Amino acid sequence: MKLFDVYPLQPVTITKASGSYVWNDAGVRYLDMYGGHAVISIGHTHPHWVKRIEHQLETMAFYSNSVHLPIQEELADKLTRLSGKDNYQVFLCNSGAEANENALKLASFHNGRKKIIAFHKSFHGRTSLAVAATDNPSIIAPVNETDAVIFLPLNDEQALADCFQQNGDAISSVIIEGIQGVGGIRVANNEFLQLIRRYCDQYGAVMIADSVQCGYGRSGRFFAHDYAGIDADIYTMAKGMGNGFPVGGLLIAPHIRPKHGMLGTTFGGNPLACAAALGVLEVMESESLIPHALELGNYLMEQLRKIPQLMNIRGRGLMIGFDMPPELGTIKNRLLSEYHIFTGEAKPAVIRLLPALTLSQAQADDFLQSLQQAIQTHPITTS
Ligand SMILES: Cc1ncc(COP(=O)(O)O)c(C=O)c1O
Repeated sequence: MKLFDVYPLQPVTITKASGSYVWNDAGVRYLDMYGGHAVISIGHTHPHWVKRIEHQLETMAFYSNSVHLPIQEELADKLTRLSGKDNYQVFLCNSGAEANENALKLASFHNGRKKIIAFHKSFHGRTSLAVAATDNPSIIAPVNETDAVIFLPLNDEQALADCFQQNGDAISSVIIEGIQGVGGIRVANNEFLQLIRRYCDQYGAVMIADSVQCGYGRSGRFFAHDYAGIDADIYTMAKGMGNGFPVGGLLIAPHIRPKHGMLGTTFGGNPLACAAALGVLEVMESESLIPHALELGNYLMEQLRKIPQLMNIRGRGLMIGFDMPPELGTIKNRLLSEYHIFTGEAKPAVIRLLPALTLSQAQADDFLQSLQQAIQTHPITTS
């Protein structure tokens, strides 16, 4: 049977991974500055995380959400402590799209409304409402088309004000990434996030902080939205939450009340996923990875700004983007094939860095040196 061909693949076969490195099938080592698409938070195959999962596997891999599972409460307590979101409730699921789908649905259950505000270049996932709130018509199937979603320019305060004035009583939720990932590392301004908070309060809309990519410490704060000094009504999480084990979740403010049957899942919150998520938080805490991400991210951005060919260096913590001039358009491929470094990209010519939060300064320096060398030796093209 053939694999359903939906991904343009990099010409590399990865068979082993550890920390910030992965190895191909010929034993060649690659530096992973992409973290498997921002998923690897505490480093590939971190020994504590492996042990945590192994232990759980030997104890009990699965039982359904129809019984009391104490490890879910252990995870909820740890999440409260690390996120600082006291009195929030947690709903566990399996992926980023599922987290956003549930968040949008929950907001609508909560206020009985139908309209959603999302932003240009947003990405929220590929399921029904999540994809409808994603600003990419090419991935929206006809069956997902809806007039429920209003797209506004990111950081445009006037457009937000006009939209609430015209539709205020119909707006169920506003969904916003603290730092857009797929959209090319575009940071939501603190003032803009504060304004969303104010309008949501004024009009009874639910503020959803999509933290699937920018959350879980990557930005140097637990949630990137924390930089604005506000609390969202719902935070959605996935990617870094399991360090590669599929797990997602929602943190839900106390004023949003649950009702039996409102949300549900077979696999969400299963003991193995909870063990993986606990393993991640334990390592984040014991290795002080959130302050490390901030410090190393600042260092990386400072050094990148010294490379004259790079433009618009931006981001927070270890979620960094920069624009490449057109003549250096293929640098990502050269970094991979000649320097054995994985990076991410976004259209039209953005390089995205999303390494594990355990990246060391020496590894960051290796990357910077290779990038500089690749730029200096890049063949000049005129087209
Ligand atoms: C901000 C954001 N939200 C949601 C998703 C969807 O997550 P998943 O692929 O786990 O469904 C992604 C995935 O890239 C994302 O970057």
